[in-house]
Amino acid sequence: MTYQNPLRDEQDRRLPRIAGPATLVIFGVTGDLARKKLMPAVYDLANRGLLPPGFSLVGYARRDWASQDFAQIVEESVKQYARTEFRQEVWDQLNEGFRFVPGDFSDDQAFDHLRRTLEELDQQRGTRGNHAYYLSIPPKFFGEVIGQLKEHGLTDQDRGWKRVVVEKPFGHDLESARELNAIVSEVFPPEAVFRIDHYLGKETVQNILALRFANNLFEPVWNSNYVDHVQITMAEDIGIGGRAGYYDGIGAARDVIQNHLLQLLALVGMEEPLAFDAHQLRREKQKVLAQVRVPDRIARATARGQYAPGWAGGEKVNGYLQEEDIPATSTTETYAAIKLTVDNRRWAGVPFYLRTGKRLGRRVTEVAVVFKRAPYLPFSEQAVEDLTQNALVIRIQPDEGVTIRFGAKVPSTEMEIRDVNMDFAYGGAFTEASPEAYERLILDMLLGDPPLFPQQEEVDLSWKILDPILDYWDKHGKPEQYESGTWGPQSADDMLARDGRTWRRP
Ligand code: BG6
Repeated sequence: MTYQNPLRDEQDRRLPRIAGPATLVIFGVTGDLARKKLMPAVYDLANRGLLPPGFSLVGYARRDWASQDFAQIVEESVKQYARTEFRQEVWDQLNEGFRFVPGDFSDDQAFDHLRRTLEELDQQRGTRGNHAYYLSIPPKFFGEVIGQLKEHGLTDQDRGWKRVVVEKPFGHDLESARELNAIVSEVFPPEAVFRIDHYLGKETVQNILALRFANNLFEPVWNSNYVDHVQITMAEDIGIGGRAGYYDGIGAARDVIQNHLLQLLALVGMEEPLAFDAHQLRREKQKVLAQVRVPDRIARATARGQYAPGWAGGEKVNGYLQEEDIPATSTTETYAAIKLTVDNRRWAGVPFYLRTGKRLGRRVTEVAVVFKRAPYLPFSEQAVEDLTQNALVIRIQPDEGVTIRFGAKVPSTEMEIRDVNMDFAYGGAFTEASPEAYERLILDMLLGDPPLFPQQEEVDLSWKILDPILDYWDKHGKPEQYESGTWGPQSADDMLARDGRTWRRP
């Protein structure tokens, strides 16, 4: 047995985790994600001193750019979207490791060029054969790119590590998710595959586990004895912007419920893991996802909508069907609400209501755990008429924090009781700003640290939940129109009203 010095371990945990030498290759580097999230996150990591001096970044895309042009594009995106301030000396150092390889995915010569570029970087910048391939491209190209990487000798694990990063959606149903996985896992072993669900990189999402398992206050009431229902909301005020090509045919359920919202459900619903390592965390998430059930009568347990013209941020906006490149007959949903149950002792009879939509009243993501009413109220009916159910609301974004809603006596009344809020705000409690989700995830991937990356089993389980709903929607009717700037279709309100409940107005 090796001796472990507990003090040293304690100290190590506090040290910043710095990535080792590596090159990150981004396929689809001209896309929105790379420009708005990935490249700024790389800069932010460099700025925080978390990347080694030789760190290198290779862009691959079908553009006639030289490496300098690429550097210029990255600089613009960093200046516009990075979280931390622009520092010339950090930028200059990072910039030395930028290369661009032009080509499409079928281009053998371009992949040869990529191989030579990576070898040069290994020699010149000491990246030691450690290469991460980020597939920020539509899944239909995964097979081709991975095949090319293999054929050009870019996936051998014997000299340095080779990792692949894939973005959601992981397939569009269970079957295609499995096919996709077969393609990836033919070339990369499971520990080299990093599936990004950026919600898991958010500090506030990780805080769900801290809140539940580092405290004694919440866990005793975190079950069907006390909880009436749970509402998980991810509302956006934006429309689909320039993403018609990606979004149409995908829709709200596949875009965010299959991944972000079901991951939130898993974190809220799971049992305490034996340890906070990847294996145990994934195991508990899988257990709870396997217990999730879609009610038999799908029509009554779901709602979907499509945004119609309306208002956003004081401006008149188009409906979904008027957006550029959207066919006028599209039945893609931009709003989805689903009622799920979790068949286990802890959650029996507690519905989990999930909803998401674009062009809603405002941008907010939250998990609200709504408690049952007190079994007996020794007050007059008028005294408690404004009192609603107690709730614990985890505010994922914006305005990150936690609110507890409970009843309190109104001053100067005999005994009138009304709702009040007790608030924890990240901004007020901590001086350090939260890193962006992509900073955390790219760093973890470079470190080979897996807890925040879902495994294929979780992906399969979430498609198993969603497939019957998507299938039903496909065969029955079409989404209901809702005015932009409102809180979604009437059918979503009706869905809760049937259970005698209402959606929170966040
Ligand atoms: C992405 C979805 O995963 O999440 C987008 O594809 C959505 O449609 C985005 O806009 C929202 O992310 P966030 O971090 O702003 O909540």
